[in-house]
Amino acid sequence: MPTILLADDDPMQHELVQATLGRAHRVLQAWNGREALAVARRERPDLVLLDVLMPELDGFEVCRQLKADPTTREIEVVMLSARGDRPDRRRGVEAGADVYMTKPFSPSALLDTVRQALGGDVAQALATPVLAEPVPPSERPAELVQTLAYAHELSALYEAAQERAARFRFLVELGKDLVAARGLDALLRLALERATTFSGHDAGSVLLLAGPDGPLKVRASVGKSSRGSWLAALDDLAARALRELRPVTFDGEPRDASEPQGTPPADSARPSARPRTSAPAVPAAPGAAVGLPLVTPGGVPLGVLRLESRESTGRLQVHDLDALQLLASQLAAAIESVQLHERLQHGLEVLQAIHEAGRVLSATLEADAIGGRLLDIARRVSGLEAAVVRLRNRRQHVRLWQTAGPEALWRWAQATAASRAARKAALATGEAQCFALGVPPDGAAPLTGWCICLRVQDRVLGVLEAYGREDRAAENTAEFLGSLASQAATALDNARLYRELAERERQLAELVGRLLVAQEEERRRIAYNLHDDLAQLAAGIHQRLQAFAHDYRPASPQAQHQLDQTVELARRMVGQTRGVIADLRPTTLDDFGLAIALRAPVEALRADGWEVAYEEALGAERLPPAVETALFRVAQEALGNVRKHAGTTRVQVALRRRDRAIRLEVVDWGRGFRVSAARAGAGAGERVGLLGMRERIALLGGHCVVRSWPGAGTRVIAEVPLPGSHE
Ligand SMILES: Nc1ncnc2c1ncn2[C@@H]1O[C@H](COP(=O)(O)OP(=O)(O)OP(=O)(O)O)[C@@H](O)[C@H]1O
Ligand SMILES: [Mg+2]
Repeated sequence: MPTILLADDDPMQHELVQATLGRAHRVLQAWNGREALAVARRERPDLVLLDVLMPELDGFEVCRQLKADPTTREIEVVMLSARGDRPDRRRGVEAGADVYMTKPFSPSALLDTVRQALGGDVAQALATPVLAEPVPPSERPAELVQTLAYAHELSALYEAAQERAARFRFLVELGKDLVAARGLDALLRLALERATTFSGHDAGSVLLLAGPDGPLKVRASVGKSSRGSWLAALDDLAARALRELRPVTFDGEPRDASEPQGTPPADSARPSARPRTSAPAVPAAPGAAVGLPLVTPGGVPLGVLRLESRESTGRLQVHDLDALQLLASQLAAAIESVQLHERLQHGLEVLQAIHEAGRVLSATLEADAIGGRLLDIARRVSGLEAAVVRLRNRRQHVRLWQTAGPEALWRWAQATAASRAARKAALATGEAQCFALGVPPDGAAPLTGWCICLRVQDRVLGVLEAYGREDRAAENTAEFLGSLASQAATALDNARLYRELAERERQLAELVGRLLVAQEEERRRIAYNLHDDLAQLAAGIHQRLQAFAHDYRPASPQAQHQLDQTVELARRMVGQTRGVIADLRPTTLDDFGLAIALRAPVEALRADGWEVAYEEALGAERLPPAVETALFRVAQEALGNVRKHAGTTRVQVALRRRDRAIRLEVVDWGRGFRVSAARAGAGAGERVGLLGMRERIALLGGHCVVRSWPGAGTRVIAEVPLPGSHE
């Protein structure tokens, strides 16, 4: 029997050659160039079938060395190459090859070539086309019959190999498509459609582990869904595939994919190896199913790919199962990467939401708005169904404050025993609580609840409670809600502080207003008393003294001088008393109004030699008493400041009406000052003139501005709206 050495790194090639030549030849095998040389030298075959492209040494080099070695020179060498172009053929001939064959070749072509090469007609063999002409049947009928039988068998093998190659190509393509699929749903659907097409099952599901310790839950399905005992059997099959981390098939009976075909049912075959409880329940009707574990490249089980048919599809071939398991591995890797991507994406969204929450929550000091936004963000980002916020009231009772989501749902959820216990624990410990709520009365899936304290430092302001479907809620929900709750608590505390501050300011303003009114009243009373008593008395003394001086002329010039001085003192006393009364409360303000009352201080300055411009457009028009008093006091203080600090004698006073407001301006061209530093170093109760101006005007809803700069004079502007205006 001739010995043939096949040197090729393709297992399929070995299979083909073995099947074609194995019966009539002794076929030796080598998988690379170096091994080919070693086997050839050791075994001295009659012929070497030499693949061109091989690891370690290529076919040309092996051929050259064989032909160069006197001990192997006589061995016939047939080069096998996928490339049939001329340069390659020439290289083959140059290396010393006896025959050159182009792959793929049919079994009959191989038989012919080998026969001819062993027959010695090298020139003819080299000239032989890829499909060698068959030898006329009449020459060797017995061989022909055998050859035809081989050829028949081999073409079946060849076709099967082609089909397998096509299936593997399909898998490789699927791998690419899985990587390109967007989102978990699209990915699972694609994998299921391709897997059922590949295996011939009419339905399929992907079951994923809900958590590291299960349970398995159907995440996607194609085809008609199963029910009853058949479904129970399928679930058992999936659980077993995952537990044992290997494919499990079911074809009327459960069976390991690794078991050879035709073995009896698992339970009866190996009762001791497999506990009875682990075997899937036997369904009433026949059917076929396979469960393939989904395990990531890192060895983490994710779930099971399950394919099923109500009709028996016939036992899956081992290599089909291999292909399906390959598909399952590709799917697991793709699921892992999609989940990772989704987790990252969600993490990013959460970070953005936390950032956004900080901005949104701190943008308002309204507690109601903060509560509303808190609930809105909590529900939007974590996929929750409902949420409520409870706050402590003044009596430290925690009361429902704001709610979001369907009323029936949160009413039911917050009243459950689990919620109450979690709330109690959260308030007592300050720790976030996550608890199972069970299935709501009109819901389909069980809910999970989270209870998180709204805390600022050591104070617990209340709790945020959120309820959602566990399978839909993001895995870092508790962390996210915690961060949200702490931001909301700070915002709520700020809102409270602001409310208290605003309330205190309001009370203070009211107090100042009352004080000013009381002060004015007191001034008016003193002014009137002075006017009625002291001023009258002084005027009386002055008149009498004048009359006395007129009637009784002293004899000595000395006595006359003293009398004149006394009359003058009495006159000055009258003047000063009137000045004090005017300062305290000019009666003209009550009697003739602001514009006329302002003439007095203006005239007083002019009398002292000042250049004072006074413009007014009100005349005798009367304004509300509070407005007249406030603007008069502002003018009084501003003119007083000019006199005390400005170092000038030029001033302008203007009183105008602007729409429904009265505007007073006092301008000087004096030394000016830094308004921001006006009170620097002042003690309590000192330098309060400017503050008083602003306060008086603000109480009336107006505003008072002081514009000044060293060397640039000073401008005081006070504007007060008149009642009924809508500024
Ligand atoms: N017209 C002005 N020209 C220059 N400096 C001025 C003028 N008005 C105010 N100032 C500066 O601003 C400071 C604050 O003025 P403000 O009226 O508040 O206090 P005051 O006049 O010093 O004391 P009082 O409490 O008696 O009014 C003054 O001390 C002065 O330095
Ligand atoms: Mg002052």
